[in-house]
Amino acid sequence: MPYRLRPHIREMAPYSPGKPVEEVQRELGLKSVVKLASNENPFGPSPRALEAVRLAAASMNVYPDASGRRLRDALAVRYGLKSDQVVLGNGSDGLIHNLGLVFLGSPDDEVVVGDPSFVRYDASAHLAPCRLVKVPLDRQWRHELKAMAAALSDRTKLVYIANPNNPTGTIVPETEVRALIRDLPPGCPLVLDEAYFEFAADVPGYPDGARLLSEGLPVVVLRTFSKAYGLAGLRVGYGFADAEIVDSIDRVREPFDVSALAQEGALAALDDSAHVADSVRRNREGLRLIADSAVEAGFGVVESHANFVCIDLGRPCRPVFEALLRLGVIVRPCDIFGMPNHIRVSVGTEAETQVYLEAFQRVVLASQEVPA
Ligand SMILES: Cc1ncc(COP(=O)(O)O)c(C=O)c1O
Repeated sequence: MPYRLRPHIREMAPYSPGKPVEEVQRELGLKSVVKLASNENPFGPSPRALEAVRLAAASMNVYPDASGRRLRDALAVRYGLKSDQVVLGNGSDGLIHNLGLVFLGSPDDEVVVGDPSFVRYDASAHLAPCRLVKVPLDRQWRHELKAMAAALSDRTKLVYIANPNNPTGTIVPETEVRALIRDLPPGCPLVLDEAYFEFAADVPGYPDGARLLSEGLPVVVLRTFSKAYGLAGLRVGYGFADAEIVDSIDRVREPFDVSALAQEGALAALDDSAHVADSVRRNREGLRLIADSAVEAGFGVVESHANFVCIDLGRPCRPVFEALLRLGVIVRPCDIFGMPNHIRVSVGTEAETQVYLEAFQRVVLASQEVPA
Protein backbone atom coordinates (compact mmCIF):
# COMPACT_ATOMS: atom_id res chain seq x y z
CA MET A 1 0.00 0.00 0.00
CA PRO A 2 1.57 3.35 -0.96
CA TYR A 3 0.99 5.27 2.28
CA ARG A 4 1.40 9.03 2.24
CA LEU A 5 4.75 8.93 3.98
CA ARG A 6 7.04 11.96 3.88
CA PRO A 7 8.77 11.35 0.53
CA HIS A 8 12.38 11.53 1.73
CA ILE A 9 11.86 8.87 4.45
CA ARG A 10 12.13 6.08 1.87
CA GLU A 11 15.54 7.39 0.82
CA MET A 12 16.93 7.34 4.36
CA ALA A 13 19.31 4.47 5.08
CA PRO A 14 18.37 2.57 8.24
CA TYR A 15 21.11 2.34 10.87
CA SER A 16 23.28 -0.70 10.25
CA PRO A 17 24.51 -2.20 13.52
CA GLY A 18 27.45 -4.63 13.68
CA LYS A 19 26.51 -8.25 12.96
CA PRO A 20 24.81 -9.80 16.02
CA VAL A 21 26.76 -12.58 17.78
CA GLU A 22 23.83 -15.06 17.69
CA GLU A 23 23.40 -14.57 13.92
CA VAL A 24 27.08 -15.30 13.25
CA GLN A 25 26.98 -18.33 15.56
CA ARG A 26 23.93 -19.72 13.76
CA GLU A 27 25.09 -18.94 10.22
CA LEU A 28 28.61 -20.30 10.64
CA GLY A 29 27.89 -23.01 13.21
CA LEU A 30 30.38 -21.53 15.68
CA LYS A 31 30.35 -22.21 19.41
CA SER A 32 31.89 -18.97 20.53
CA VAL A 33 32.01 -15.62 18.79
CA VAL A 34 33.78 -12.43 19.86
CA LYS A 35 32.20 -9.14 18.81
CA LEU A 36 34.62 -6.24 18.46
CA ALA A 37 32.42 -4.09 16.27
CA SER A 38 30.37 -1.67 18.38
CA ASN A 39 32.86 0.29 20.49
CA GLU A 40 31.27 -0.82 23.76
CA ASN A 41 33.08 -1.12 27.10
CA PRO A 42 34.11 -4.80 27.16
CA PHE A 43 35.12 -4.58 30.83
CA GLY A 44 31.51 -4.18 31.90
CA PRO A 45 29.61 -1.58 33.91
CA SER A 46 30.58 -0.29 37.34
CA PRO A 47 29.34 -2.65 40.10
CA ARG A 48 27.87 0.45 41.74
CA ALA A 49 25.77 1.14 38.63
CA LEU A 50 24.58 -2.46 38.60
CA GLU A 51 23.48 -2.23 42.22
CA ALA A 52 21.74 1.13 41.66
CA VAL A 53 19.82 -0.27 38.67
CA ARG A 54 18.85 -3.35 40.68
CA LEU A 55 17.44 -1.16 43.46
CA ALA A 56 15.67 1.17 41.02
CA ALA A 57 14.05 -1.77 39.24
CA ALA A 58 11.69 -2.29 42.19
CA SER A 59 10.03 1.06 41.33
CA MET A 60 9.67 0.56 37.60
CA ASN A 61 5.89 1.05 37.89
CA VAL A 62 6.57 4.78 38.43
CA TYR A 63 7.51 7.22 35.63
CA PRO A 64 11.05 8.58 35.76
CA ASP A 65 11.84 12.14 36.87
CA ALA A 66 11.17 13.89 33.55
CA SER A 67 13.66 16.65 34.34
CA GLY A 68 16.48 14.25 35.29
CA ARG A 69 17.26 16.84 37.96
CA ARG A 70 19.65 14.85 40.17
CA LEU A 71 21.72 13.63 37.25
CA ARG A 72 21.84 17.07 35.64
CA ASP A 73 22.91 18.67 38.91
CA ALA A 74 25.59 16.04 39.46
CA LEU A 75 26.98 16.57 35.95
CA ALA A 76 26.92 20.36 36.39
CA VAL A 77 28.90 20.07 39.64
CA ARG A 78 31.37 17.58 38.12
CA TYR A 79 32.15 19.80 35.13
CA GLY A 80 31.86 23.26 36.74
CA LEU A 81 28.77 24.32 34.75
CA LYS A 82 25.32 25.56 35.70
CA SER A 83 22.48 23.03 35.79
CA ASP A 84 20.63 24.93 33.06
CA GLN A 85 23.60 24.26 30.76
CA VAL A 86 23.15 20.49 31.05
CA VAL A 87 20.74 18.42 28.97
CA LEU A 88 20.10 14.66 28.98
CA GLY A 89 19.17 12.36 26.13
CA ASN A 90 18.31 8.81 25.17
CA GLY A 91 21.98 8.22 24.46
CA SER A 92 23.89 10.95 22.65
CA ASP A 93 22.04 9.57 19.60
CA GLY A 94 18.90 11.05 21.17
CA LEU A 95 20.61 14.41 21.59
CA ILE A 96 21.77 14.45 17.95
CA HIS A 97 18.16 13.78 16.93
CA ASN A 98 16.91 16.57 19.21
CA LEU A 99 19.52 19.05 17.95
CA GLY A 100 18.18 18.40 14.45
CA LEU A 101 14.64 19.10 15.65
CA VAL A 102 15.56 22.45 17.20
CA PHE A 103 18.00 23.74 14.55
CA LEU A 104 16.92 22.31 11.18
CA GLY A 105 13.68 23.47 9.64
CA SER A 106 14.17 24.38 6.01
CA PRO A 107 15.51 22.44 2.98
CA ASP A 108 18.06 25.26 2.55
CA ASP A 109 19.57 24.68 5.98
CA GLU A 110 23.02 23.12 5.92
CA VAL A 111 24.82 20.79 8.31
CA VAL A 112 28.60 20.60 7.92
CA VAL A 113 30.20 17.27 8.87
CA GLY A 114 33.48 15.46 8.33
CA ASP A 115 33.60 12.51 5.94
CA PRO A 116 33.72 9.84 7.22
CA SER A 117 32.31 10.67 10.60
CA PHE A 118 29.52 9.45 12.86
CA VAL A 119 26.58 8.33 10.73
CA ARG A 120 23.82 9.72 12.96
CA TYR A 121 24.63 13.32 11.93
CA ASP A 122 23.67 12.36 8.38
CA ALA A 123 20.44 10.75 9.58
CA SER A 124 19.42 13.90 11.43
CA ALA A 125 20.02 16.06 8.34
CA HIS A 126 18.17 13.59 6.08
CA LEU A 127 15.21 13.57 8.44
CA ALA A 128 14.85 17.38 8.45
CA PRO A 129 15.32 17.18 5.38
CA CYS A 130 18.12 19.64 4.69
CA ARG A 131 21.51 19.76 2.95
CA LEU A 132 24.40 17.78 4.29
CA VAL A 133 27.78 19.28 3.44
CA LYS A 134 30.45 16.58 3.76
CA VAL A 135 34.06 17.68 4.10
CA PRO A 136 36.63 14.90 3.51
CA LEU A 137 39.06 14.09 6.33
CA ASP A 138 42.74 14.73 5.63
CA ARG A 139 45.28 12.06 4.64
CA GLN A 140 45.79 11.04 8.27
CA TRP A 141 42.00 10.64 8.60
CA ARG A 142 41.68 13.74 10.80
CA HIS A 143 39.01 16.42 10.48
CA GLU A 144 40.36 19.15 8.23
CA LEU A 145 39.09 22.21 10.07
CA LYS A 146 40.29 24.78 7.52
CA ALA A 147 38.31 22.99 4.82
CA MET A 148 35.32 22.81 7.16
CA ALA A 149 35.60 26.57 7.76
CA ALA A 150 35.63 27.10 3.99
CA ALA A 151 32.39 25.09 3.74
CA LEU A 152 30.50 27.37 6.14
CA SER A 153 27.84 29.77 4.86
CA ASP A 154 24.92 31.83 6.15
CA ARG A 155 22.81 28.71 5.67
CA THR A 156 24.94 26.60 8.04
CA LYS A 157 22.89 25.72 11.12
CA LEU A 158 25.07 23.06 12.74
CA VAL A 159 28.67 21.92 12.45
CA TYR A 160 29.62 18.52 13.89
CA ILE A 161 33.05 17.33 14.95
CA ALA A 162 33.32 13.95 16.62
CA ASN A 163 36.43 14.32 18.77
CA PRO A 164 37.69 11.54 18.85
CA ASN A 165 36.09 10.73 15.53
CA ASN A 166 34.15 7.57 14.76
CA PRO A 167 35.14 5.53 12.70
CA THR A 168 38.74 6.78 12.69
CA GLY A 169 39.55 7.50 16.38
CA THR A 170 41.48 10.64 15.39
CA ILE A 171 41.37 13.91 17.35
CA VAL A 172 41.68 17.60 16.50
CA PRO A 173 43.64 19.99 18.74
CA GLU A 174 42.23 22.90 20.72
CA THR A 175 44.03 25.57 18.65
CA GLU A 176 42.29 24.40 15.46
CA VAL A 177 38.92 24.08 17.20
CA ARG A 178 39.18 27.66 18.48
CA ALA A 179 40.02 28.92 14.99
CA LEU A 180 36.96 27.17 13.53
CA ILE A 181 34.72 28.63 16.25
CA ARG A 182 35.88 32.14 15.24
CA ASP A 183 34.67 31.44 11.68
CA LEU A 184 31.17 30.19 12.59
CA PRO A 185 28.25 32.17 11.19
CA PRO A 186 26.18 33.94 13.90
CA GLY A 187 23.82 31.61 15.77
CA CYS A 188 25.47 28.42 14.52
CA PRO A 189 27.09 26.31 17.26
CA LEU A 190 29.97 23.90 16.84
CA VAL A 191 28.82 20.52 18.13
CA LEU A 192 31.77 18.76 19.74
CA ASP A 193 30.74 15.13 20.03
CA GLU A 194 32.93 13.83 22.83
CA ALA A 195 31.45 10.34 23.14
CA TYR A 196 35.01 9.01 23.66
CA PHE A 197 36.14 11.95 25.86
CA GLU A 198 37.45 9.85 28.77
CA PHE A 199 39.84 7.94 26.50
CA ALA A 200 41.39 11.12 25.08
CA ALA A 201 41.13 13.53 28.01
CA ASP A 202 44.82 13.46 28.94
CA VAL A 203 46.23 13.76 25.41
CA PRO A 204 48.17 17.07 25.24
CA GLY A 205 46.30 19.70 23.23
CA TYR A 206 42.99 17.81 23.30
CA PRO A 207 40.20 20.33 23.92
CA ASP A 208 37.72 19.87 26.77
CA GLY A 209 34.41 21.11 25.34
CA ALA A 210 33.00 21.85 28.80
CA ARG A 211 35.81 24.36 29.38
CA LEU A 212 35.20 26.03 26.01
CA LEU A 213 31.50 26.37 26.88
CA SER A 214 32.30 27.86 30.29
CA GLU A 215 34.30 30.55 28.46
CA GLY A 216 31.06 31.48 26.70
CA LEU A 217 32.00 30.01 23.32
CA PRO A 218 29.17 28.76 21.02
CA VAL A 219 29.72 25.06 21.47
CA VAL A 220 27.38 22.17 22.17
CA VAL A 221 29.20 19.29 23.85
CA LEU A 222 27.86 15.75 23.61
CA ARG A 223 28.99 13.02 25.98
CA THR A 224 27.69 9.62 26.94
CA PHE A 225 27.58 6.90 29.56
CA SER A 226 27.76 4.30 26.76
CA LYS A 227 31.52 4.13 26.30
CA ALA A 228 34.01 4.49 29.20
CA TYR A 229 31.20 4.12 31.78
CA GLY A 230 30.00 0.89 30.18
CA LEU A 231 26.25 1.65 30.18
CA ALA A 232 25.49 1.42 26.42
CA GLY A 233 22.44 -0.76 27.03
CA LEU A 234 20.86 1.72 29.44
CA ARG A 235 20.83 4.57 26.87
CA VAL A 236 21.89 7.72 28.62
CA GLY A 237 23.79 10.55 27.05
CA TYR A 238 24.26 14.16 28.13
CA GLY A 239 25.10 17.47 26.60
CA PHE A 240 26.46 20.83 27.68
CA ALA A 241 25.19 23.92 25.89
CA ASP A 242 23.99 27.46 26.31
CA ALA A 243 20.81 27.59 28.45
CA GLU A 244 18.80 28.75 25.41
CA ILE A 245 19.66 25.57 23.50
CA VAL A 246 19.04 23.36 26.55
CA ASP A 247 15.64 25.00 27.05
CA SER A 248 14.74 24.41 23.37
CA ILE A 249 15.71 20.73 23.55
CA ASP A 250 13.66 20.36 26.72
CA ARG A 251 10.64 21.63 24.80
CA VAL A 252 10.91 19.09 21.95
CA ARG A 253 12.31 15.98 23.58
CA GLU A 254 10.21 13.03 24.68
CA PRO A 255 9.35 13.86 28.31
CA PHE A 256 10.62 10.54 29.71
CA ASP A 257 13.46 9.92 27.28
CA VAL A 258 15.92 8.81 29.98
CA SER A 259 14.46 5.92 31.96
CA ALA A 260 14.48 5.80 35.76
CA LEU A 261 16.92 2.86 35.64
CA ALA A 262 19.21 4.78 33.31
CA GLN A 263 19.21 7.85 35.55
CA GLU A 264 20.05 5.82 38.66
CA GLY A 265 22.70 3.75 36.88
CA ALA A 266 24.33 6.87 35.46
CA LEU A 267 24.38 8.65 38.83
CA ALA A 268 26.12 5.70 40.45
CA ALA A 269 28.55 5.28 37.53
CA LEU A 270 29.48 8.96 37.67
CA ASP A 271 30.64 8.42 41.24
CA ASP A 272 32.82 5.43 40.38
CA SER A 273 35.85 7.17 38.92
CA ALA A 274 38.03 4.13 39.74
CA HIS A 275 35.96 2.03 37.32
CA VAL A 276 36.37 4.61 34.53
CA ALA A 277 40.11 4.92 35.18
CA ASP A 278 40.48 1.14 35.09
CA SER A 279 38.53 0.90 31.80
CA VAL A 280 40.65 3.65 30.24
CA ARG A 281 43.89 1.94 31.31
CA ARG A 282 42.88 -1.50 30.06
CA ASN A 283 41.56 0.03 26.86
CA ARG A 284 44.91 1.70 26.21
CA GLU A 285 46.69 -1.61 26.61
CA GLY A 286 44.26 -3.35 24.23
CA LEU A 287 44.63 -0.58 21.65
CA ARG A 288 48.39 -0.94 21.78
CA LEU A 289 48.28 -4.71 21.25
CA ILE A 290 45.87 -4.46 18.30
CA ALA A 291 47.81 -1.63 16.66
CA ASP A 292 51.22 -3.28 17.22
CA SER A 293 50.08 -6.57 15.69
CA ALA A 294 48.87 -4.72 12.58
CA VAL A 295 52.09 -2.75 12.24
CA GLU A 296 54.21 -5.89 12.75
CA ALA A 297 52.26 -7.53 9.94
CA GLY A 298 53.12 -4.58 7.70
CA PHE A 299 49.80 -2.72 7.74
CA GLY A 300 49.05 0.94 8.35
CA VAL A 301 47.19 1.96 11.48
CA VAL A 302 45.17 5.13 12.02
CA GLU A 303 46.29 6.85 15.26
CA SER A 304 43.34 6.29 17.59
CA HIS A 305 42.44 7.99 20.87
CA ALA A 306 39.19 6.07 21.35
CA ASN A 307 38.33 2.41 22.13
CA PHE A 308 38.78 1.08 18.60
CA VAL A 309 41.37 1.27 15.87
CA CYS A 310 41.22 1.30 12.07
CA ILE A 311 43.70 -0.88 10.21
CA ASP A 312 44.64 -0.11 6.61
CA LEU A 313 44.91 -3.48 4.88
CA GLY A 314 46.07 -1.94 1.61
CA ARG A 315 43.48 -4.06 -0.17
CA PRO A 316 39.68 -4.42 -0.03
CA CYS A 317 38.59 -5.13 3.52
CA ARG A 318 35.72 -7.58 2.85
CA PRO A 319 37.77 -10.78 2.40
CA VAL A 320 39.64 -10.12 5.66
CA PHE A 321 36.40 -9.19 7.46
CA GLU A 322 34.82 -12.44 6.24
CA ALA A 323 37.85 -14.57 7.07
CA LEU A 324 37.84 -13.17 10.63
CA LEU A 325 34.11 -13.89 10.83
CA ARG A 326 34.70 -17.53 9.91
CA LEU A 327 37.13 -17.69 12.84
CA GLY A 328 34.45 -16.25 15.14
CA VAL A 329 35.62 -12.61 15.32
CA ILE A 330 33.27 -9.80 14.29
CA VAL A 331 34.95 -6.51 13.35
CA ARG A 332 33.61 -3.63 11.24
CA PRO A 333 34.35 -3.56 7.53
CA CYS A 334 34.91 0.15 6.84
CA ASP A 335 33.76 0.12 3.22
CA ILE A 336 30.36 1.09 4.66
CA PHE A 337 32.02 4.31 5.88
CA GLY A 338 33.82 5.02 2.59
CA MET A 339 37.14 3.48 3.75
CA PRO A 340 37.22 0.40 1.49
CA ASN A 341 40.63 -0.87 2.64
CA HIS A 342 40.13 -0.57 6.41
CA ILE A 343 38.65 -2.68 9.16
CA ARG A 344 37.71 -1.13 12.52
CA VAL A 345 38.48 -3.26 15.57
CA SER A 346 37.04 -2.39 18.99
CA VAL A 347 39.11 -3.24 22.04
CA GLY A 348 37.81 -6.34 23.84
CA THR A 349 38.51 -7.89 27.22
CA GLU A 350 42.08 -9.17 27.48
CA ALA A 351 40.82 -12.65 26.49
CA GLU A 352 38.75 -11.34 23.56
CA THR A 353 41.61 -9.24 22.27
CA GLN A 354 43.81 -12.35 22.42
CA VAL A 355 41.27 -14.31 20.34
CA TYR A 356 41.29 -11.49 17.80
CA LEU A 357 45.11 -11.31 17.69
CA GLU A 358 45.38 -15.02 16.97
CA ALA A 359 42.64 -14.90 14.33
CA PHE A 360 44.26 -11.87 12.69
CA GLN A 361 47.62 -13.66 12.55
CA ARG A 362 46.02 -16.67 10.86
CA VAL A 363 44.12 -14.53 8.36
CA VAL A 364 47.18 -12.45 7.55
CA LEU A 365 49.41 -15.49 7.07
CA ALA A 366 46.79 -17.10 4.83
CA SER A 367 46.26 -13.93 2.77
CA GLN A 368 49.99 -13.44 2.24
CA GLU A 369 49.97 -16.63 0.20
CA VAL A 370 47.40 -15.06 -2.15
CA PRO A 371 48.54 -12.10 -4.28
CA ALA A 372 46.58 -8.87 -3.50
C1 LIG B 1 30.96 9.67 17.87
C2 LIG B 1 29.77 9.05 18.50
N1 LIG B 1 28.79 9.83 18.94
C3 LIG B 1 27.69 9.32 19.53
C4 LIG B 1 27.52 7.96 19.66
C5 LIG B 1 26.24 7.45 20.24
O1 LIG B 1 26.40 7.01 21.53
P1 LIG B 1 25.18 6.79 22.50
O2 LIG B 1 23.91 7.11 21.75
O3 LIG B 1 25.26 5.38 22.90
O4 LIG B 1 25.39 7.75 23.62
C6 LIG B 1 28.50 7.09 19.20
C7 LIG B 1 28.32 5.63 19.32
O5 LIG B 1 29.01 4.82 18.77
C8 LIG B 1 29.66 7.65 18.60
O6 LIG B 1 30.63 6.87 18.11
